[in-house]
Amino acid sequence: MEEKLQAILEAASKEAVELNARPDFEAFKARLVGPHGSLTDCVKSVGKLPKEERPLAGKAVNQIKKALEALFTETLQRIETAEMQALLGPAVDPSLPSAHFPAGTRHPLSQVRDAISEIFRKIGFTIAEGSELESEWYCFDALNTPDDHPARDEQDTLFLPEGLVMGNVDKKADERYVMRTHTSPVQIRTLLKEEPPLRIVAPGRAFRRDTVDATHSANFHQIEGLYVEKDCNVTDLKAVLDYFLQELFGSEVQTRLRPSFFPFTEPSFELDMKLPNLGKLSDQWIEVMGCGMVDPEVFKSVGYDPEAWSGYAFGMGIERLAMLLYGVDDIRYFYQNDLRFLRQFTS
Ligand code: PHE
Repeated sequence: MEEKLQAILEAASKEAVELNARPDFEAFKARLVGPHGSLTDCVKSVGKLPKEERPLAGKAVNQIKKALEALFTETLQRIETAEMQALLGPAVDPSLPSAHFPAGTRHPLSQVRDAISEIFRKIGFTIAEGSELESEWYCFDALNTPDDHPARDEQDTLFLPEGLVMGNVDKKADERYVMRTHTSPVQIRTLLKEEPPLRIVAPGRAFRRDTVDATHSANFHQIEGLYVEKDCNVTDLKAVLDYFLQELFGSEVQTRLRPSFFPFTEPSFELDMKLPNLGKLSDQWIEVMGCGMVDPEVFKSVGYDPEAWSGYAFGMGIERLAMLLYGVDDIRYFYQNDLRFLRQFTS
């Protein structure tokens, strides 16, 4: 039996190198391991041997079977490579690595969003999420924004008709749905969901009824920040925002807080920055975000004791920061999917 098996393998090895076409290969394989193949016959004959001879014979058959399988794989690969080469012609070597195929890249706004989030992540802020579709309470009331505030005007805000909305945004019967006009409702969602102390940033989309021009888009992006602690004050706010802008724009950045007004912060500020190397905008104060100390009314609306808790909040436009970082002078470039623009942000 052993000799017979060796002879099968030797003959097969010799024959294999002569094979050059797939049909010949298939026929060759069938002559060995097909239903009436020579190896198949050997396998069958093992069963007819006396019981004590079977293990040894079985082992020998298996060894040859393995060797034949390796031979099949190798032969088929050789035939396939030759066929491919015949198709491609002599100029192409299919064994070489493929030519460089350009991979895509993240959109510049995503890159800036991630860079900003990462700076805050380093000092312990986590990422929070809210909802782009909000009820009036989350977007305005809970943020101490009265009914007659201009932001609630139909001129500025996209209100949605009742029948259009499916799903389950919390809303009381007498409220309307809005596309959030800022990311500040994430403050409310976070305050309700988590236990203080809190340290979050919330990047996301916001929507306003703006007419699109070089600096306005009806659909833009913001990053909200919220910090809630015991005994927190304006110095903490300023320190964190100074650190943030230095990380993003470099150590030469100067900052100042300018008094402002937001219904949900008291006191409220605009944060301005100045840089020596910002092209046309060098050496002048540029407004980069709104911020302030969380208004006690906001704490009250989410059931926090304003005597026990304090905090600060800030909100900035991602497009605006991206335009300053990269010297882009028209916000519309970000949405046109023009590869000549986008390719400049390939990292
Ligand atoms: N939500 C404000 C805006 O969109 C920005 C802001 C956020 C101001 C947080 C203060 C605190 O203009």
